[in-house]
Amino acid sequence: AKEIKVSPSLLAADFADLRGEMDKINSSEADWLHLDIMDGVFVPNISFGFPVLKYVAELCKKPLDVHLMIVQPEKFIREVRALNAMMMNVHYEACPHLHRVVQQIKEAGMKAGVTLNPSTPVSLLEDIIEDVDMVLLMSVNPGFGGQKFIPHTLQKVRSLRELIARKNAHALIEVDGGVNNNTAPELIEAGVDVLVAGSAVFKAPDMKEAIHQLKIIKGK
Ligand code: DX5
Ligand code: ZN
Repeated sequence: AKEIKVSPSLLAADFADLRGEMDKINSSEADWLHLDIMDGVFVPNISFGFPVLKYVAELCKKPLDVHLMIVQPEKFIREVRALNAMMMNVHYEACPHLHRVVQQIKEAGMKAGVTLNPSTPVSLLEDIIEDVDMVLLMSVNPGFGGQKFIPHTLQKVRSLRELIARKNAHALIEVDGGVNNNTAPELIEAGVDVLVAGSAVFKAPDMKEAIHQLKIIKGK
């Protein structure tokens, strides 16, 4: 079986102890660290911004997987690059000129990810899939951690797997929202490559063990 990547979401971390949280992440089996940036416009919440993430980026030894839930994300390519981010994910719904934004992210030296809200169909990626490094499927409506997984996501993972195979594209499939030991097996079976997990990791009694458990889950 292929190796599943785990990208813990900082949104559920103890912000009063970011150094302690990053020490644990650094010594865990986490593959990446997922950073959720919100603007109170694209989503009905505000999380953290670049002044905070500058310190997170200094403390974290894992590649950064940045998820921008903001309007006009192309305005912040330079700031995301300055964090030394590995991946920049922008929302399909926030980018009328998605092709240009994807090229700009890649020109800045990062991998480019496109994110779909739960109600946005996978078929809309037909003409961009070959250009992207990852598709992030939201399995909750973005804006908050700790929400319930939307089961229809499994069908979207399967359609996306088909689209990627048909186009001979290389994009990874990441899923974000309500991912835990109960929802992960079916996602893996459906063809996910990367699991984002916030509460399931940071609110667990033993974070490193919670990450380990997600790493060893097999498809159902
Ligand atoms: C939601 C964020 C997620 C969130 C997931 O808007 O994009 O990354 O942190 O949190 P859990 O895993 O608790 O659903
Ligand atoms: Zn996210």
